[in-house]
Amino acid sequence: MPWNGRHFLNLDDLAREDMIGLMKRASHFLNAGDRYEPDEPLAGKIIANLFMENSTRTRCSFTIATKRLGGDYIDLLGETSSSSKGESLVDTALNLEAMGVAGIVVRCSEENGPDEIAKQVGVPVINAGSGTTSHPTQALLDAVTLSRYFGTDDLSGQHIAIVGDIAHSRVARSNVIGLKKLGAKVTLVGPPELLPEDLNCETSSDFDSMLAKITGIMMLRVQFERDAQVCEDYREKFGLTEARAANFQGAIMHPGPMNRGLEIDDSVANIESSPHNLILSQVTSGVATRMAILEHLIG
Ligand code: CP
Repeated sequence: MPWNGRHFLNLDDLAREDMIGLMKRASHFLNAGDRYEPDEPLAGKIIANLFMENSTRTRCSFTIATKRLGGDYIDLLGETSSSSKGESLVDTALNLEAMGVAGIVVRCSEENGPDEIAKQVGVPVINAGSGTTSHPTQALLDAVTLSRYFGTDDLSGQHIAIVGDIAHSRVARSNVIGLKKLGAKVTLVGPPELLPEDLNCETSSDFDSMLAKITGIMMLRVQFERDAQVCEDYREKFGLTEARAANFQGAIMHPGPMNRGLEIDDSVANIESSPHNLILSQVTSGVATRMAILEHLIG
């Protein structure tokens, strides 16, 4: 079914043209930078950030995006909400809607949580990360970052390795969808026990042999809070070490937060390490991308 532009739940709902339209708008906001003079499409509107899991980048960038579009926001965080008394995610969202919010940005551990909310409420719902399966706004901001790095929205000819704890990564799953839509080849790299086979991608457990073939690397955090187990020599085999980075000239990305010294060396993570280090550009793209999504759905 074509994307109806009402909710932003999963990247596979969007056609390539829908995705590129949002990316172009995000790029417009990025180009305008501090000179952006908003026409305040969210003026008078309140966006609810319903975050049942912790977040730094996603929540703050939705907040900043809302404010830059002239809107206001409220935060409802898991530990301080009545979910601690057993209230369901959908009931929580219905109560926010009853208070008059214009949209709900939701992060939750339930894979279908945003979809279930979208079935019940009458306002736009945006998936800000659900379970281990979906983080579509992250994949869109990664696509914006890569398209600006390569100078084109057409990523055919690019080969991106997503490296690390793929098994627990909603970022990986959404990026596989987004990158393929834009034409990129994707290879998943990691230890066999963290490489799921259901993502329809080439896989490898030999990071070094990939370096000469790929044009971009997305490092992933080992998600210890989801009980990821890694071998003692994980950094040596799967980390973006200083030595590996010295042999690589393409885009270097990480969605954050980073386990410095494990999946990425401190010196590689530092922004001044290389003009190819896009890690903080991803964060900057995050605000612009979320502005584009909020404007499209609610503005
Ligand atoms: N990349 C990302 O989703 O970061 P946060 O968990 O801090 O939002």
